[in-house]
Order: sequence, then structure tokens, then C-alpha cells
Amino acid sequence: MEPKQLQLNAFDMNCIGHINHGLWTHPRDRSTEFGSLAYWTELARLLERGLFDGLFIADILGVYDVYQGSIDLPLKEAIQLPVNDPLLLASALLGATTHLGFGVTANLSHEPPYLFARRLSTLDHLSQGRIGWNIVTGYLDSAARAMGQNGLVEHDRRYDQADEYLEVLYKLWEGSWEDDAVLADRAARIHTQPDKVHPVRHQGEFYRVEGYHLSAPSPQRTPVLFQAGSSERGLRFAGRHAECVFIGGSNPSAVRDQVVRVRRAAEAAGRDPQSVKLFLGISAVVATSEAEARDKLAEYRRHANPEAGLAHFSASTGIDFSRYGLDEPIRYQKTNAIESVVKTFTAPGAGWTRRRLLEQHALGGRYPLLVGSPVQVADELLHWLDDTGLDGFNLTRTVTPESHADFIDLVIPELQARGRYKTAYAEGTLREKLFGAGPRLPAEHPGSAWRSLGAAPQARRLGG
Ligand SMILES: Cc1cc2nc3c(=O)[nH]c(=O)nc-3n(C[C@H](O)[C@H](O)[C@H](O)COP(=O)(O)O)c2cc1C
Repeated sequence: MEPKQLQLNAFDMNCIGHINHGLWTHPRDRSTEFGSLAYWTELARLLERGLFDGLFIADILGVYDVYQGSIDLPLKEAIQLPVNDPLLLASALLGATTHLGFGVTANLSHEPPYLFARRLSTLDHLSQGRIGWNIVTGYLDSAARAMGQNGLVEHDRRYDQADEYLEVLYKLWEGSWEDDAVLADRAARIHTQPDKVHPVRHQGEFYRVEGYHLSAPSPQRTPVLFQAGSSERGLRFAGRHAECVFIGGSNPSAVRDQVVRVRRAAEAAGRDPQSVKLFLGISAVVATSEAEARDKLAEYRRHANPEAGLAHFSASTGIDFSRYGLDEPIRYQKTNAIESVVKTFTAPGAGWTRRRLLEQHALGGRYPLLVGSPVQVADELLHWLDDTGLDGFNLTRTVTPESHADFIDLVIPELQARGRYKTAYAEGTLREKLFGAGPRLPAEHPGSAWRSLGAAPQARRLGG
């Protein structure tokens, strides 16, 4: 069997400080230009030159007010604040790109599924099927309060709501319009055949929808579904819905375990375990030689802010690390934030302290950091890939856009020379490019069960 080719997304966010905090102060960093379309267009074209599968755009709706109970540090260091809308950004970049996919993060907790379904269908139409959706439910109390709730809905309940949200979306995307509904026949004066468009009648615990999807079928119908939670409940959700799962992890054995758990969850949901792609978040500092890469890292580190990284991590876990002494062990606390992350680093014997966390955030973030020559970085990437069963990586930016340019100029050719990275884009939609099949959801995916809405008993005319 041919060795697996590595798949690659750029991991970014419509903001200044995303993962590696503090680097915005580096003289060559351009992230403060994030409000400019020219900045993003240049970046998107750069990624296409590097044959990236996608630009994965994270998002958050609230602010990071857990650390020191304040947003002073997030404001001073631009820690995911200010942050602009990811869907509008993706929309603006479609015309500047031809093949690049866009994985947009959208929190389902605050937007009715009926509206969201149309927004993503619109993007899928305009991009000719290059859209993926990173399904998130939110983990910030500050977001829930800003949206008029008393606080964040309980962790597992958020996933229950998400399951139902997806069901509504599948009904709209997959079931409401038949493939051949649109005739666009001028002579017969029939644009859309009335008997091929079906109402959705959904009455559930969280949502009630009675209506027709407003968009005609887009190339993929359901966009490629990404997901990132890996708690027990999160895994069940991923096993059922996710086509791509984004995981974090600092060592190969923990990542291997996660890969196995995700694939098992897919199998338990009646899907082919290999049909789910797993991406690991990583950072890389590369130069033509190892010595130069180490020098570059030292230079970057002078601008990074580990404490800002910790403020971000406090929000992810719901734990205020500013309350801990430098060498005080960090204890497990039940929080309502990202459960899998809290459990991993408060596990018995894990030995985390604020000092160790600050060391881990030396470059302002806590993703595995690969540093070295192109050969060394390629070796490490492939080692991760072959050792863990991963399918690819979400590559963070460090000093931007320099770090992506370095990766593209130095590491991509090395991977290509080894036959481990594509040398041209495949044709077709994002789903076809990633999976070699599509453009629609595979038949075994639960979303495709709603395709026959027309034949279902509920498919009577609304109001009829
Ligand atoms: C690697 C990774 C990336 C994530 N990215 C985002 C994001 O961009 N926006 C967001 O609201 N939640 C994000 N999350 C949170 C999860 O999507 C999820 O909604 C929630 O935290 C529950 O995760 P759990 O099942 O592990 O507890 C991310 C989580 C992980 C592990």
C-alpha cells in the first residue's frame, strides 16, 4: 500500500492573537492587519500556492474573562479580542481562490438552525462546494451571558441540543429539495418543480421548525462536518456526525489513543471508522538549517507572551491559573468548559503547575512545536502521522504570514519529494478533495437518512 499522504489546513482566526500569543509585537508580524481584505487575500493565495486543503477559521463568541476575572490582559495582548466574523471572511475570500477549502467555525447555540442552514448553503453555492463547518457549542459563560442567558448550558446538554440541531439541518439540507427539483425550463415556465420540494416538520425538545429550505441544493448539500470536542459525550457526537475531527495533544501515545477512540465512536454509530479524518493542531518554526531555525525560535520567543497563553488556557478550561502559586499543583475542578482538556492535564500524576504551564507556553501557545530544518520537520510530521494513525494537521501561525511562507517554501517540497504530499489539487468539492468521494455525504452517514423526506409521511404540504 502507498504510504498515506498528509492533509493540511492552516489554522487561523479572524483576529490578532490566535494560538501563539504575543507574537503580534514582532516587527514582521502582520496580524494587526486582520481587518484588511488585502491581508487575507494574500494569505489565502499563499495557502493555495502551498496546496493547503483548507483554511480552518476558529471562532469564539464571548471574551476570555476567567484569568484574573478580567479582560484587561486579553485586551492588552489582543487574545482573540477583537475578533471578527469567520463566515463573512470566508465569503470574501472565495473570489480570490479556486481550490482552497474553508472550515468555518460557528457556534450553534445562539442561531436558529433555519437561518444557519441557508447561510451555509449560500456559502456552499458561492464556493462551488468548498465549505466545511466546524461544529461548536460554546464553552464560555461570557458568551452565554452576552446572548441573554443566565449562564452556559451544562456540558452534556449542549451536545444533546447539538444532536437535535444537526437533525434539523440534515432535514433542510438533505431532505427538503430533491436533486432534480430545479428545471430552469424557460419554455415550460417551470423553474422549480413543486412536487420535488418538501416541507420540513420538526418538533423536538429544543427546536420547532415548520418550513421549506430556502436554498436549492448546493454542491455538497451538507458542508464537510468538522468537530473538536473529545469528552465522552463529545466523542459520541463526533462518532455520529463528524467527518473530520480536530484534536489537540502533546505526545504521540495520547494522540494515538484519541485517534482510536474517535474511530471506535464512528464504528459504534454504524460508520466506517476509516471514513473519519483526524487532524492534530501543531506549530512549526522552520529554516534552511537547524541552527537557523533555533535562532529564529529564540527571536520569536522574545516577542511571545506565555502569560497571555495562560489566560487563553484559563478560558478553555474554566480554571483561573492566576490563583495558583508558581509551583502549586493544579487540581482537578469540575468546570463547564472543555472537559477533555481539563481531565487530561489534571489527571493524577500529570504534575502540572503554573510554572510548567508557562514553560509549555514559551511561544505563547501550547500546541506541539516542531523546530528544525525542512528534513527534520518533515521527519517529525511523518513520524506523528505514521505513529498515531492521524490523517493530517492544522498548522497554526506564529509570525504571520512568514511562518506559512517558510513552511510552504521549505517543508512542502520535502514532503512532496517523499511522495507524502500532493503535487496538485484534485478536482471537485472539498469533500471530494479530502475523501476522494462525494460530493454528498456518504450513504452510511446519518445525515443521508433524511434524503427521502419526499417519501416520508411528514411530507405533506405545510398548512395542508
Ligand atoms: C482542538 C480544539 C479546538 C477547538 N476550537 C474551538 C473554537 O474555535 N471555538 C469554540 O467555540 N470551541 C472550540 N473548541 C471547543 C469544542 O469544540 C467543544 O465545543 C467544547 O469545548 C466541548 O469539548 P469537550 O467535548 O472536549 O468537552 C475546540 C476544542 C478543541 C479540543
